[in-house]
Amino acid sequence: MSQKGLEGVVAAQTSISDIDVENSRLLYAGYDVTDLVHHATFEEVFYLLHHRELPASPQLEQLTSQLTVERDLHEFTRQLMVTLASTTSPMSMLRTLVSSASAYDADGWVVSTDHAANYRKAIRLVARLPQMIAGHERLRGGKWPVEPNRKLGHAANLLYVLMGEVPSDEDARVMDQCLVMHADHTMNASTFAARVTAGTLSDIHSAMTSAIATLKGPLHGGANEQVFEMILKIGSVEAVPEDIKGRLARKEKIMGFGHRVYKREDPRATILRELARDLGTRKGDMKWFEISEKIFEVVNSEKGLFPNVDFYAAAVYHYLGIPKRLFTPIFAASRIAGWTAHVIEQLQNNRLIRPDSEYIGPAPRNYVKLGDR
Ligand SMILES: CC(C)(COP(=O)(O)OP(=O)(O)OC[C@H]1O[C@@H](n2cnc3c(N)ncnc32)[C@H](O)[C@@H]1OP(=O)(O)O)[C@@H](O)C(=O)NCCC(=O)NCCS
Repeated sequence: MSQKGLEGVVAAQTSISDIDVENSRLLYAGYDVTDLVHHATFEEVFYLLHHRELPASPQLEQLTSQLTVERDLHEFTRQLMVTLASTTSPMSMLRTLVSSASAYDADGWVVSTDHAANYRKAIRLVARLPQMIAGHERLRGGKWPVEPNRKLGHAANLLYVLMGEVPSDEDARVMDQCLVMHADHTMNASTFAARVTAGTLSDIHSAMTSAIATLKGPLHGGANEQVFEMILKIGSVEAVPEDIKGRLARKEKIMGFGHRVYKREDPRATILRELARDLGTRKGDMKWFEISEKIFEVVNSEKGLFPNVDFYAAAVYHYLGIPKRLFTPIFAASRIAGWTAHVIEQLQNNRLIRPDSEYIGPAPRNYVKLGDR
């Protein structure tokens, strides 16, 4: 008997993250993500996901320095970026750039089970994704990519290479909090794709390419961009009820709502709602937050559904000045921390992932010659 969508199927054991469904909590190696969002940086979380312990100061200093030193893109990537930016979407470009980055990785073609090399590759990929994402946006806008700023932390540098100016401490901290909360989420579709690829003993760049390709879809990472479109189209708090009820009557899915695992509110949505409210107040523009709140009210009363991570992320990123087409790539810039940790975990205790299928086609039959068909 097949289990459609593999719901409830346990595909791997992991010590990286866990969801406490009963209490709507997400935990990274035992630490509540809500605590981490309030106190930790993305650099600390990268270390935690890879080592299952928070770093002490010397370890954090070493990692921060590695993540800073590894920011520069190879000339090959820079040239490819110019070509791809003019012809592909940001997610398609990111997928292709990450795939191509294996060509000039300093660890080259070492065996895929070399965990130390995989960790170094993970650091390089995490360090470089912001430059790839921002490069696409700037080239599309007729501007030359900005060189990374070594004085800034990972999140602040991401905003810097995107906007071309040093962000405020408050905006940089919100970006950091978004990166922390998106960094891992158990066996989601893109993490599963990464583990399936790694399970064949393919290399970590191939596994990241699978993951990015999987995150791209609107039922996964692509939902946040569609939430933005919906808010933009609705345009006012007053227009929310009619619009949402119309969508539901047409049996359309409301993007940013529902979840395979959470039956109540996604804890990350709770944090993002607060961030959206604070940002709206600070920027003197509550409209996006208020439209989002009204959508939640109507969807919840009509369908009993709760928002997921993608819903309030749209308002938060909008307030930070991030264009809609970069919402999913920025999700990838964070989730790559978790994906790479999962790949290394898969390879440390690997068995090929090869599920079964339930055949529902024609019964066995004899070949019919071309002229007799
Ligand atoms: C996340 C999601 C893919 C989970 O899917 P799933 O576990 O396979 O759940 P299903 O799609 O089978 O939905 C179960 C029921 O809830 C309804 N439902 C789920 N999410 C819904 C949504 N966002 N809007 C309207 N109805 C929804 C389905 O129509 C279905 O109703 P039915 O039983 O009457 O047909 C799904 O909720 C969804 O498509 N959400 C919108 C996309 C999104 O926000 N993705 C980001 C996820 S973090």
